[in-house]
Amino acid sequence: MQTAVIKNPGSSLIYLRVNEEWFCYDYKLQPLGQGALGIVYLGFDCNSHQRVAIKKIRDEYTNNRYVRQSARAEASKIFYHPNIVHTIGLCEENQYNGAMYIISEYIPGVTFESFVRTRLNNLSKTERIVRIVSEMRQILDALKYLHNLGILHKDIKPSNIMIDSVLRVKLTDLGISEAYHKQIRTIKEFIGTPQYAAPEMIPESGISSPIDARTDLYAFGVTLYELITGFNPFAGATNDETLHNQLCRVLPENSELPRKLFKILEKATAKEPDKRYQTATEFDNALVEFLIYAQSKNKVRPIWVYITVIIFGIIGAILLLQGALL
Ligand SMILES: Nc1ncnc2c1ncn2[C@@H]1O[C@H](COP(=O)(O)OP(=O)(O)O)[C@@H](O)[C@H]1O
Ligand SMILES: [Mg+2]
Repeated sequence: MQTAVIKNPGSSLIYLRVNEEWFCYDYKLQPLGQGALGIVYLGFDCNSHQRVAIKKIRDEYTNNRYVRQSARAEASKIFYHPNIVHTIGLCEENQYNGAMYIISEYIPGVTFESFVRTRLNNLSKTERIVRIVSEMRQILDALKYLHNLGILHKDIKPSNIMIDSVLRVKLTDLGISEAYHKQIRTIKEFIGTPQYAAPEMIPESGISSPIDARTDLYAFGVTLYELITGFNPFAGATNDETLHNQLCRVLPENSELPRKLFKILEKATAKEPDKRYQTATEFDNALVEFLIYAQSKNKVRPIWVYITVIIFGIIGAILLLQGALL
């Protein structure tokens, strides 16, 4: 792959060449977002002027062999699914320790987490939950697609889910996704996010189950719990404590969660993979059942119901008043 990085002296623009195409961004502008491995900037395709997202791998990681491998892997995974961010390519200053950039489709939107906080905060509790669950089903659709291809995401969490201006939910950050058969087996190589890591992701757990689709579904269950309740059920003061909680702590009940939904999330986050939903489709069916139930309970009553109640209330009050006066 032909790549190049050009910085003009005296300018804050960085030009990146990927194969025959050029992209650019201004490193002095406020980034779109930041993650553990990279800083994401708004960039442009120099030819079409279309907006792109440019993730610059943090300088402290460009010497790290694993990070370079995972960035190359992320850039090589080009998926065509409406709910998965589309990757355009990779640009490396040099092969060993130079700057690295991953160029992908720009998502004009916000993280799903911030959408819930800012756009759904004035809905009633049930309406809010119904919206979160309905929109998040799009991520299960993305997982059905990836799992059918034999790919695991392995880092499902709120900050890796975005929602765009037409309310399309997108799964981002496929940096550590990989084929089912490649198993990480030592704690040193653990690179997921402890707060969402299923027990079988934790090498020293003694759990012999393979890391598979059910591992992503566990993380999806924790993510949904966190989006609704506002807190992560397994977070500890340190990473070790969090991983310990993943192995030993059962999912805590929460007043924000209707019983039916809690039961679904409890099954999704069972410690033993055999007790969880086995596929994204199975998980999705359970959520659809919940949505039908929640919406039927939350049905808006027709206006005549309110009018009748008011009329009978007034008549009742008049009768009472007459009785008191007589
Ligand atoms: N394609 C994109 N379009 C717009 N913003 C993005 C895009 N990708 C990532 N971001 C923003 O950058 C943040 C970090 O990106 P992410 O890919 O998760 O980085 P990391 O690999 O370091 O975790 C995201 O939470 C989001 O706010
Ligand atoms: Mg991320």
